[in-house]
Amino acid sequence: MDYRAYIAARLPVEGMGEEEIAAAIAIPPDTALGDYALPCFKFAKLMRKPPAKIAEELAAAYPTDEVIPEVVAVNGYLNFRIGKERLAEETLARILEEKSQYGASDMGRGKTVCIDYSSVNIAKPFHIGHLSTTVLGGSLYRIFKALGYTVVGINHLGDYGTQFGKLISAYKHWGKREEVEEGGIHAINALYVRFNEEATEEMQAEAREYFRLIESGDREANELFDWFKSLTMAYVQKIYDRLHITFDSYAGERFYIDKMQPVIDELKAKGLLVESRGAQVVDLEQYGMPPFIVLRSDGASLYATRDLAAAFYRKRTYDFDKCLYVVAYQQNLHFKQLFKVIELMGEPWAKDLVHVAYGMVSLEDGAMSTRKGKVVWLEDVLSRCVEKAAAVLEEKNPALENKEDVAEKVGVGAVVFGALYNNKIKDIVFSYDKALNFDGETSVYVQYTCARARSVLTKAAEGGIGYADAQVCELCPAEFELIKALAEFPDTVKTAAATYEPSVIARYAVGTAQKFNKFYIDCKIMQAETEALRAFRLKLCDAALAVLTNALTLLGIGVPDKM
Ligand code: ARG
Repeated sequence: MDYRAYIAARLPVEGMGEEEIAAAIAIPPDTALGDYALPCFKFAKLMRKPPAKIAEELAAAYPTDEVIPEVVAVNGYLNFRIGKERLAEETLARILEEKSQYGASDMGRGKTVCIDYSSVNIAKPFHIGHLSTTVLGGSLYRIFKALGYTVVGINHLGDYGTQFGKLISAYKHWGKREEVEEGGIHAINALYVRFNEEATEEMQAEAREYFRLIESGDREANELFDWFKSLTMAYVQKIYDRLHITFDSYAGERFYIDKMQPVIDELKAKGLLVESRGAQVVDLEQYGMPPFIVLRSDGASLYATRDLAAAFYRKRTYDFDKCLYVVAYQQNLHFKQLFKVIELMGEPWAKDLVHVAYGMVSLEDGAMSTRKGKVVWLEDVLSRCVEKAAAVLEEKNPALENKEDVAEKVGVGAVVFGALYNNKIKDIVFSYDKALNFDGETSVYVQYTCARARSVLTKAAEGGIGYADAQVCELCPAEFELIKALAEFPDTVKTAAATYEPSVIARYAVGTAQKFNKFYIDCKIMQAETEALRAFRLKLCDAALAVLTNALTLLGIGVPDKM
């Protein structure tokens, strides 16, 4: 039930649309006065009356029913009390009917969203700096899919640049086939690091030549490049599997090399390209930005040029309604320039390009460092967290079945949740211990709550206690608060999509788990006073489990059956 819409449709405010009214209706922080509240200050000008008077008049005119049985005016606010039983009935019926689909909708039908995320660099470490883009993008992917959008997940691979010439040179001098085959990305990275430390002038020149050879289609150079690429991709794929991340396209920078010229020609034709110290640039001074460099003085393209070609390609290929770039805030300027240039080219879809920026993640023990060789690999963070999770689980429940599987879900989940719990633009300091706290604002807390709910349901099933036909009983406060939270889930998913903030769902999951646990402690479930009450509470338990599971799933976090 969409209460805001329901209320708005019954409020006679002339000159204001229902949607506008609905949007102004909020959930008060303290629900003692009401479950929904509408501030009437907004109408004062329109209705030429003081807010308090408006609230009184509207309260008197509002047609109460079993959905909204009570409306009161307090200090210029309209407070609405919702019909508890009616809400409980509708909400539980809907959740148990829709189960894993609860929270999904078809609002995005016919619309396409491209999401550029993770976008790893070939032959470079997949480090903790890639955590946020990968899990934020992965979560947004699921969220938009759940809302019925056609979603295109794009891994804009960093597979172009002079570093590949350096790598080939390093390999030729110091590399051994078996060692690289065996060591994979780590061996490749070691060669690259060594090149940067030890390469002579001669090797630098050689590297430039190798890069040119890759460019000109030389067979050996390209075979080496492809080999480095496949080793990198095999490595990152294992991490994507652990994080439940998928992509629909791996069109990276190299893919756009032959697609840049038409865009450059268009820039020229539109008179946007000017020469500046030998380079071809778009002047953005009047917008307070440095020039957008399209071609360097030696004629080489840049990261930015490839992004420009990529945007046009994506628009042409997918005809997106939105194209998101989930990239760290360090690239704010790059995307501002890019979007501006596309706007100056007269493309109306420039407004549909969105830089979803996020803050930096560092580790509590040993801040992230990108100094040579001192990289924190994401794989190590995941493994370490899974190890620690295994230890915590061992201590809590030595008899646990499928320990490894549970530790993987808990450990990996904790890292993912750590990156998704806060507003994305904030810098995060990740602490293993805090992330694995069973009583904290953590994924393990939510997972444990799910296991708790499931264990009650299993016990009931074992005792042959059914609850499919359970009727709503008179609700105690803990039950009602939980049901209200469950009813808010579909809107929560929409808000997360509208703000590109999976944290909205992460916070919802913790809050709802807290409400479940209050219910679990306050209300006897298996020992309820009557069979009818027991059945109703079991039903509520089942519904809460479904919703919490859906929330974690949208974040990309697994839910163990037992913990
Ligand atoms: N590979 C780039 C980096 O590591 C990120 C690419 C982001 N996507 C894009 N279309 N520019 O910084």
